[in-house]
Formats: sequence, C-alpha cells, structure tokens
Amino acid sequence: MSTEENGQFEHFMGRKADLVEAKRSVRTVDGREILIVHHQATFYAIDLHCYHAGSSLENGDIEDINNKLCIICPKHKYKITLEEGEGLYKAANPQEEVRTFRWYSKGIKQRVHKVTERGEDVFVTLSTTPHCIDSDYYYTTQGRIDRAKVDEDTMDFMDESE
Ligand code: FES
Repeated sequence: MSTEENGQFEHFMGRKADLVEAKRSVRTVDGREILIVHHQATFYAIDLHCYHAGSSLENGDIEDINNKLCIICPKHKYKITLEEGEGLYKAANPQEEVRTFRWYSKGIKQRVHKVTERGEDVFVTLSTTPHCIDSDYYYTTQGRIDRAKVDEDTMDFMDESE
C-alpha cells in the first residue's frame, strides 16, 4: 500500500508493534530491498545491501561510534551510520609523533530513507537524493549479479566452517 504525500510516495512497512518486536525487518519497495531497524525507540530505514560488496546488513551489530549509531556489516565489518548512511573508519596520522587513532568519515555511502510513524502504522519514503550513492550500485542489474556472488561465497564459507 502506498500513498502520495507532497509528490512523494509513502510505502506501508507494517504495524508499529510488529516492527518493534522484530527489531529488524526487510521490505522491498519499488524493487529495492530496505532494512527497517528499530533501535532505542527509533526507526531507521537503510538500503539492505552494504555499499562495500553488497552483503546483507540485516544481522549487523549496532554500536555507538563517536556518538553516532552505526550498523556493522557482518561481512567485512564496515561501519555505517544509521541516520545518515555515512561510512566511518578509524585511522592515525603517520606524521604525528604520537599516533592517535581517530574516527573519520568517508562521506555518505549507504542510502537511507525517511521513516514516518502514523498512528499504529509505519511508512517509508524512498530517498530522492539525486546524486549516486555507493549502495545504489547493488540495485543495478550488474550489482544484483555481484551481490548474489557475495551471498554464495558467504554460504560456501558457512558450509566449510560447519
Ligand atoms: S560487504 Fe559490507 S563490509 Fe564488505
């Protein structure tokens, strides 16, 4: 079910109580898989497939990094802020006498979407940011092929480790 609001479509994601209980829910909106996260009384909506190599973020841990809530991609541990889709990394300046590791931003890497709660229902409006964001690639034809390979590799790895 979709409704138009100011020229943008709000897509029904489910009943709030169900999404809260599930904590993580995957929905497909206009052919795009979206991860809905409920964490610390707030909903977030983010592209399901990680901008790095397309793995699913569904089972990623959530951590507070530099006062920003981040989902940690299970595949290679990239950190992505839930609110903005910013990629964070830790590094030290090799020119400093005493090397101190700090968090830095790579900029916006993962597309995030707007969540609206209306009564007992939750809706998502897909981001319309016009410029390309890295996670967009995994929703292209070639990106879908590439991410399927990542999923196969993950399954092979799990089979071997059993
Ligand atoms: S696929 Fe997510 S960190 Fe590599």
